[in-house]
Amino acid sequence: VIVHKTATSSVEVRISIRMLINQHSLVFDGAANPIHPNTIGSIDPCCDVVQVVRDAYESAKMLCEQYYLTSPSLDLKELNLKSRTQPIHLVYVPSHLYHMLFELFKNAMRATIENHKDSSDLPPIEVLVAIGGEDLSIKMSDKGGGVPFRKMENLFSYMYSTAPTPTVGQQDRAPLAGFGYGLPISRLYAQYFQGDLQLYSMEGHGTDAVIHLKALSTDSVERLPVYNKTAKRNYKVSQAADDWCVPSREPLDMAVYRLAK
Ligand SMILES: Nc1ncnc2c1ncn2[C@@H]1O[C@H](COP(=O)(O)OP(=O)(O)OP(=O)(O)O)[C@@H](O)[C@H]1O
Ligand SMILES: [Mg+2]
Repeated sequence: VIVHKTATSSVEVRISIRMLINQHSLVFDGAANPIHPNTIGSIDPCCDVVQVVRDAYESAKMLCEQYYLTSPSLDLKELNLKSRTQPIHLVYVPSHLYHMLFELFKNAMRATIENHKDSSDLPPIEVLVAIGGEDLSIKMSDKGGGVPFRKMENLFSYMYSTAPTPTVGQQDRAPLAGFGYGLPISRLYAQYFQGDLQLYSMEGHGTDAVIHLKALSTDSVERLPVYNKTAKRNYKVSQAADDWCVPSREPLDMAVYRLAK
């Protein structure tokens, strides 16, 4: 618990410091970004969400094909509640959005391929981008066989991975999986501007990963970690008491006592 909380807040601090340094150097550098002339530092006031989805898919696809020599296709849909014909735009940091989507695509591709090893057809990865009055949500659905419900909590733990540990420095290509950082760091990026990342899985079928972002820039205020005396105490709390009894965790002598009764 302590390692997880400390890692979480140090990554949050790192995200905010990087954001500040990046923003400062880009704004005060003076030169406009030739590819995205309308960006203000790293913030794009008119971020084309669907284009970022496509970019992240293409990068993950390239990596996936290096490993598996194949990749699932993308089935992308968008839904704009305000105006059905207008593309979906958002005030956001495109690099953050790209990072989250790239991680989700890598996971979805790996699961899809590993789950369809014996079939010649790969089901596509479906992405739905929807914007309403308050939220902009991106749902990525795969048919990669899903994760047992019991293991869902582990997925957001640092270093939890079911892929073999990558050998750093000995490969000429980036690994597709194996560090176990993809999901926890992506969730921090989503939460940084008051959003969230949630996973819903059905073992035997597949997984839906949903990124929720604020549709209005006025709601997307930075969320910073608190580190004061109370927070320090929280990091030291060893184990919270359970609300439910878990038979496998019951002390042995207690179980013996119950049997004897
Ligand atoms: N869409 C998915 N379908 C099935 N399992 C998934 C899916 N997404 C994540 N997982 C499981 O969650 C684990 C953790 O995912 P995470 O992205 O955090 O790490 P990783 O993919 O193993 O490594 P990396 O940090 O390199 O991305 C994966 O190893 C995998 O077992
Ligand atoms: Mg991953």
